[in-house]
Amino acid sequence: MNSKLLHISTIGCQMNVYDANQIAGVLAPMGYCGTDDIASADMVIVNTCTIREKAEQKAFSFLGRLAKLKAANPAMIVAVGGCVAQQEGKAILKRMPHVDLVFGTHAIFRLPEMVRRIEASRCRIVDVRLSDTIEFDGPVAGPLADGQVSAFVTIMRGCDNFCTYCVVPHVRGREASRHPDRILDEIRMRVDQGIREVTLLGQNVNSYGNKEGLCRFYELLERVNGIDGLSRIRFTTSHPKDLSRELIDAFGRLEKLCHHMHLPVQSGDDGILKRMNRRYTRDSYLDKIERLRTTCPDIAITSDFIVGFPGETDRQFQATLDLIEKVRYDGLFAFMYSDRPSAPATAFSGKIDESVKKERLQALLDLQTGITREKHQTLVGQIREVLVEGTSRSLDTDGLASVDHTIQWTGRTSSNHIVHFAVPDDQATGKELLTGAFANIMIERAHAHSLWGRLVQGPMGATPEKGEKPIAA
Ligand code: 5AD
Ligand code: SF4
Repeated sequence: MNSKLLHISTIGCQMNVYDANQIAGVLAPMGYCGTDDIASADMVIVNTCTIREKAEQKAFSFLGRLAKLKAANPAMIVAVGGCVAQQEGKAILKRMPHVDLVFGTHAIFRLPEMVRRIEASRCRIVDVRLSDTIEFDGPVAGPLADGQVSAFVTIMRGCDNFCTYCVVPHVRGREASRHPDRILDEIRMRVDQGIREVTLLGQNVNSYGNKEGLCRFYELLERVNGIDGLSRIRFTTSHPKDLSRELIDAFGRLEKLCHHMHLPVQSGDDGILKRMNRRYTRDSYLDKIERLRTTCPDIAITSDFIVGFPGETDRQFQATLDLIEKVRYDGLFAFMYSDRPSAPATAFSGKIDESVKKERLQALLDLQTGITREKHQTLVGQIREVLVEGTSRSLDTDGLASVDHTIQWTGRTSSNHIVHFAVPDDQATGKELLTGAFANIMIERAHAHSLWGRLVQGPMGATPEKGEKPIAA
């Protein structure tokens, strides 16, 4: 079989990163191998995002730039997948004559057939069919990067919550969960390939399996916790209304479950939450945070916020700032509200000026930066176990050079803090030696976005024996 070069460009959340890997996996048997060099590719796939207006603009400007490449190389297949493809469908073909294929979020497993047809007859194809069930349940997993220690595994797709600002239910379809046995197969396969940590993905993992009568999410976690060779489990993302008592208890019980919960709140004001159709109140959210912290005192809590939702008053925005001060998050993502096609809030009155949104975003980020800094400072002097992910980017490419004979490594704590640390280069002379190992690090310095420390003890290179852009929820 002839080898052909495939370049996949991914915009958006972890779900898109996972989908890109699946795309690479389904096209590999047709002879497509990944390349970073877009100009030499036989096929370019743009995996798009439409969650906010900016992401969609980014997708279209990237696609626009591909016209030149296609003119220079007319044999190149240009394909558009992901949420913009789902939303715009054949309008993309009309607007962009250099695009050959538009495939929606449920069409990944039909890709080989469509690509075969394009290769044979250079036709143009659109497939944006959505289905209520998962027709193909894998596992088809694409290649891992060299030294990759952590992988995503999707456990469900779609969303039935219909928050009024959100496009996800319209572009990812109805909520549908994968069978637990298939999920476990895929994780075991990744562990056999060298993965130590898995992040389970879904728009709302807390309602996993409910609709199909499969197991509950906490039961799935129990099963994943039993996988030999897997050391850490993460998941994202959780809707506060569906965060169950049993899931909170799992943080006190399951030794591989990382001490981190991403719990998007969006706003601290009950009136705004109601108009967002979030179906929880500020008090019930705070109550769940308290229960999480009682069960797991060192749990890190992060969140998503939208500022400038239609009709948001200064007083309502102050309620959001007040919530942030009460919770004292370990980190957060904040976004200026933007209208999305097919989301009901697009028709709401009381749209907020861009300048006010910008001011509110800045005030919110300033508040959180101070909190993060203070929280990071409290870690100084403590020892934390990190899963080593590799050498820091600042090193030269072979990872060995440094004037002071040390190698800078990077890892993550259970609570998802990034920690950099130096090791004398006579202790770990190769990049592979420490990657994937656990190391105990004494935290010595704290910055707004990272922590720096020193190796105090850790298995140097042994396979361990024990155990950022968000998705919407
Ligand atoms: N405008 C701004 N932010 C949005 N998000 C989702 N939809 C919108 C929108 N229309 C944010 C939410 C969500 C995160 C992934 O993106 O905070 O949790
Ligand atoms: Fe679903 Fe999350 Fe979007 Fe709400 S914000 S509709 S829960 S994906």
